[in-house]
Amino acid sequence: MKLAERQVFSYNSGMEERTSKKIISMMSGTSCDSIDVGLCLVKPDFSCTLLDGFNYDYPKDVKEKIFKMFYQLPTVDEICKMNFVIGQCFANAANEMIKKHGKPDFIASHGQTIYHYPKDTYIAGINEKSTFQIGEPSVISQKTGCMTVANFRTADVAQGGNGAPLVCFADEKWFKPLNKNIAVQNIGGISNVTVISKNCATFGFDTGLGNIMIDYCTKKFFDKSYDKDGIFASQGKISQSWLNCLLEDAYYYTEPPKTTGREYFSEKYIENALKLAPDNKFDIIATVTALTAKSIAQAYERFVFPNTDIEEVVLGGGGAYNSTLKNNLQQYLGKIPIRTHEDYGISNNYKEVMAFALLAYCTYYKIPNNLPCCTGAEQEVVMGQISF
Ligand SMILES: Nc1ncnc2c1ncn2[C@@H]1O[C@H](COP(=O)(O)OP(=O)(O)O)[C@@H](O)[C@H]1O
Ligand SMILES: [Mg+2]
Repeated sequence: MKLAERQVFSYNSGMEERTSKKIISMMSGTSCDSIDVGLCLVKPDFSCTLLDGFNYDYPKDVKEKIFKMFYQLPTVDEICKMNFVIGQCFANAANEMIKKHGKPDFIASHGQTIYHYPKDTYIAGINEKSTFQIGEPSVISQKTGCMTVANFRTADVAQGGNGAPLVCFADEKWFKPLNKNIAVQNIGGISNVTVISKNCATFGFDTGLGNIMIDYCTKKFFDKSYDKDGIFASQGKISQSWLNCLLEDAYYYTEPPKTTGREYFSEKYIENALKLAPDNKFDIIATVTALTAKSIAQAYERFVFPNTDIEEVVLGGGGAYNSTLKNNLQQYLGKIPIRTHEDYGISNNYKEVMAFALLAYCTYYKIPNNLPCCTGAEQEVVMGQISF
């Protein structure tokens, strides 16, 4: 559909005056570490304040089942049940927030991605590009009594986009006014960057691995779900030869827009990579941590610096708390100062939750909320579906 044929009404343009909205926003990312729950106040100027936040743990059995779904392709039977089970977990998380603060204006739920397929392949000439988040929004709305905005990624994919990264929209709203050239670098399970610059339009892409491989290795070699503060990595030596080998992966050479996930950096990928790993388990963690840092720095050299210089990097996501990863990144980036979202009054932990609150605010007012130059979509769309 051409731009002119498409009517995207914005209440902004006279149909309804926009007001501030209290939104419970929930997200569980590729790390699947917890459901991040934030009570956010989004104002008509698109600013967002986190009023309260907590990490809601999935029940142990549910978490194990989700990881099983990542590693062994689930059956339709399992997906069907888990869609409702995860919906109930999100509803329980929201209800905890509601118990403390009362009902919000509405809920934003990212859900749990169980499959992300950002590739152009075809069946009967029809594109198979797709993405799949579960955590049934009707369960959330029925069990909380709150209108729920969910399924953000699908409209972008329907317009030919990758459905990711989506936080770029919020990054632009929040960091552009600073009038600086900034790389907003999220390090979740996967790492993604938003480049905000005076010299070019905002763009962004997934730089590659974030914590997925670190988490996998700390689980496998230390029986810990993650490398708290990068302590294990700090005790090992980086294997330069293994690191160089890992950096040869084709993803790092692919031109943006691009996005990736557990389908690509899968258990099989990691186990294959580990066949060439050094013997010392601390060295393994040190090297996979360096891989995340170096792949980010290389992505800047290849795809960012040709467009703009960067005055500062602003880290977010759980990886921002990994000191060894941060030190590695600083070493690879040279003089560019690294700050974190907390330096700007935004929690590293709840940044994505705040971003999805903003996206849901836009859904509510029918304001286009994707950035096609980040997702590759053919046009701006209003992402998000509403369950009453
Ligand atoms: N204190 C910490 N030290 C090191 N790594 C951390 C710390 N806190 C969180 N992380 C890492 O961040 C991950 C979660 O990051 P998050 O931004 O929630 O990612 P996602 O969006 O993929 O869920 C954890 O799995 C862990 O690897
Ligand atoms: Mg998380």
